[in-house]
Amino acid sequence: MRVLVTGGAGYIGSHTCVDLLLAGHEVIVVDSLINSREESIRRIEEITGRKLFFHKVDLLDQEPLEAVFQESRIDAVIHFAGLKAVGESVIMPLQYYKNNIIGSLVLFEVMMHHGVRNLVFSSSATVYGDPASLPITEDFPLQASNPYGWGKVMLEQILRDLCQADPEMNIALLRYFNPVGAHPSGRIGEDPKGIPNNLVPYIAQVAVGKLSELQVFGNDYPTPDGTGVRDYIHVMDLASGHMKALEKLDTNPGLVTYNLGTGKGCSVLEMVNAFAEAAEKKIPYRIVARRPGDIASCYADASKAEKELSWRATRDIHAMCEDTWRWQSMNPNGYEE
Ligand code: NAD
Ligand code: WQD
Repeated sequence: MRVLVTGGAGYIGSHTCVDLLLAGHEVIVVDSLINSREESIRRIEEITGRKLFFHKVDLLDQEPLEAVFQESRIDAVIHFAGLKAVGESVIMPLQYYKNNIIGSLVLFEVMMHHGVRNLVFSSSATVYGDPASLPITEDFPLQASNPYGWGKVMLEQILRDLCQADPEMNIALLRYFNPVGAHPSGRIGEDPKGIPNNLVPYIAQVAVGKLSELQVFGNDYPTPDGTGVRDYIHVMDLASGHMKALEKLDTNPGLVTYNLGTGKGCSVLEMVNAFAEAAEKKIPYRIVARRPGDIASCYADASKAEKELSWRATRDIHAMCEDTWRWQSMNPNGYEE
């Protein structure tokens, strides 16, 4: 299959490209590099021993995007491209809506022009907001509390409307829980710009000595140890979820929605301890106030994906920490030389 991957130079996209190439697919990446580096593309090729086609194109620029579709017949699109920092989206909502919504609309329009009707979309557990109960199933009500999250809710609706209007469309909405980890080679991984917002990249930078200590945001939540609980999922498990979703689209299912998570909750302190074990280092931390907007607990019911995609996450917290540590220690400055 010839697959166009938007945002393929980024964190989840790069790991998915590895699986796509190893499965024998032809891969075309479109990325503006606004939050990534071309070095990741080189490393995908190094890991797989295969060539991929890279175009530095911003989805907001319709003409060059049309040219990519014109050049070769594309069978399916996996759409990762987007800005993803929740806090930043609160400060600059217009940039987020423009990049994420308009960029996606341009992509969908170009797909329509060229008769490309199979799409996998990166959604997020953020569309569940603060869920009324746990675990979360796909039929929970959708809500959001920041522009980033609203963008995902809106794009999901746009895609449901698109499927309604065109019964030939096949779309998989994949709601990721908390992606962490790296390729086991240590050659590709998450490379946040500036100080990381997310827990695991932050811990990794403390472990490698770039940051002095972790701030644990609150230990008074109604959870077993008082710290926030999340469903962390290894990025290679996510990558394999995308492969399964592509296979599913080949059966003409229309629009399908799946949680991609492990189904298991892990607290901040459990993650700190697992990372300390993997890195064989103490991770200094300090308990501070709750972070505004955080919820106590969030984890998936991932049984729908298991039943309908024959997909299940297989890597545990220890593998997540070991692979993150291998990437961070081999590349203390990420992809920067
Ligand atoms: P990432 O920032 O590493 O990758 C996104 C890529 O998209 C980057 O390479 C960036 O340069 C590119 N991009 C952004 N805007 C673009 C545009 N207008 N045109 C072309 N390229 C553009 O992020 P990621 O963690 O790999 O996330 C991938 C997708 O998964 C995003 O849509 C994100 O919202 C979603 N998601 C991420 C998480 C997470 O915690 N990482 C969780 C749930 C959902
Ligand atoms: C995890 C836990 C924090 C940092 C975010 C987005 C969500 C999705 C995934 C895209 C929480 C605690 C964190 C730190 C801490 N992204 N923490 N100290 O908030 O669950 O989800 O990323 O769709 O939309 O909101 O992930 O990694 O930031 O936090 O104590 O320095 O770690 O309070 O309990 P979150 P996270």
